[in-house]
Amino acid sequence: MADKSTSKTITRDDANNLDRTLRPQTWDEYIGQVKIKENLRILLTAAKERGHAAEHILLYGPPGLGKTTLANLISKTLGTNMKITSGPAIERVGDLAAILTNLSPGDVLFIDEIHRLSKSIEEVLYPAMESGVLDIIIGKGPSARTVQLELPPFTMVAATTRISLLSSPLRSRFSGGTFRLDFYSNEEIATILKRSAELLKVTTNGLILEKISTRCRATPRTANYLLKRCRDLAQLENSDLDEEVVKKTFELLEIDSLGLSHPDRAVLEVIIEKFNGGPVGLNTIAAATGEEPSTIEDVIEPYLIRHGLLERTPRGRIASPSSYSHLNYPENN
Ligand SMILES: Nc1ncnc2c1ncn2[C@@H]1O[C@H](COP(=O)(O)OP(=O)(O)OP(=O)(O)O)[C@@H](O)[C@H]1O
Ligand SMILES: [Mg+2]
Repeated sequence: MADKSTSKTITRDDANNLDRTLRPQTWDEYIGQVKIKENLRILLTAAKERGHAAEHILLYGPPGLGKTTLANLISKTLGTNMKITSGPAIERVGDLAAILTNLSPGDVLFIDEIHRLSKSIEEVLYPAMESGVLDIIIGKGPSARTVQLELPPFTMVAATTRISLLSSPLRSRFSGGTFRLDFYSNEEIATILKRSAELLKVTTNGLILEKISTRCRATPRTANYLLKRCRDLAQLENSDLDEEVVKKTFELLEIDSLGLSHPDRAVLEVIIEKFNGGPVGLNTIAAATGEEPSTIEDVIEPYLIRHGLLERTPRGRIASPSSYSHLNYPENN
C-alpha cells in the first residue's frame, strides 16, 4: 500500500532547523540569566567603545541552558564574525594554529566542549590568550627552534558542561569572566515556550505552557523538545494542542510529575534498591545503570541535585528522603 506521507515534498522544517529557528536572535529574546546578561552587556559595550577586542569569556553549566546561544549573541553584539570549533575537533597543534592565524581582528573564536582539549593544545593556547602570540616549534631535536607569530586581537568564548575538568591555568586566562548558567524558573520557561509556540504556529494557552514548564527539567532545550512532541501528537490526532495531548505526550515519553525520565529514575532506583540509598560511587552507578559516568555527571545528576533528590558527598552519591517518596519507596531508616 502506498504511504501517502512519503510522497510529500520534504521541506526544511525538520527538527534540526527548528532548533535554529527557535534559538533567540536578540538579547530580549534570550530569557532569564539576568546577571550574566548585565555583566556581558557592560563588558562588551565597554570593549566595543574602546575599539578593543573583548576579553575572553568562559560559559559553563548543564546542557541545553543556552551557552551556544549566548556565544552567538556575544559575537552579534561585537559585530564581528564567529569561528566555531570544539575541544575534540582540535587534535593537533597545527589545527589550532590554522584556526588562530585565520582569524580577522576582533573575531570571536567559540570553542565548545573546551574540557576536551588535550594538554599539549592547552599549552599553545595559554600565550595565545594572554599575549596574543603563537609559539610554534619548527623542526626536531637539536635543530628545533621556536617561531613566534603575532595573532590578530580576538575574543575567545569557551563553553563547557564540566568546569571541574579545566586546569586552573586555563581557567585563569578567561580574563573577561567566567559565567555559570543556572536552571530556569517555570515562569521563564513559560515565556520561552510562548515565543516557540508562535514560531511553530501552534495555538496554546497559559495553562498548557505551565504544564510543560514544570516537566522540562528547568531546561529550555527540553521545554522546546516537549512542545514539539506535543505538536506532533496533536497533528496525528487531528486535535488542538490541549491538556489531553500534553498529558498523553508525557505518558508516551514516560516523563513523570517532576520531569524525570527513565534514565533519571534508573539512577535513583539503583542507589535505593541495590545500595540501600548510598553512599555509592559514580562508576558503580554507571556500571549498574549502563550509562556513561560522564552522562550521569553532566546530564542526569545536576537536575537531581538541584531538586534535592540526590546528594553528592565525598563518599559517593546518596538518594535523599524526597527521592524515596517521589519514587514510592518506603522510607529508608
Ligand atoms: N535564555 C534562553 N531564552 C530562550 N531560549 C533559550 C535560552 N537558552 C536556551 N534556549 C533554547 O534552548 C536551545 C538550546 O540552547 P543552547 O544550544 O544554547 O544550549 P547549550 O548550553 O549550548 O547546550 P549544550 O551544552 O548541550 O551545548 C536553544 O536553541 C534555544 O532554543
Ligand atoms: Mg552548546
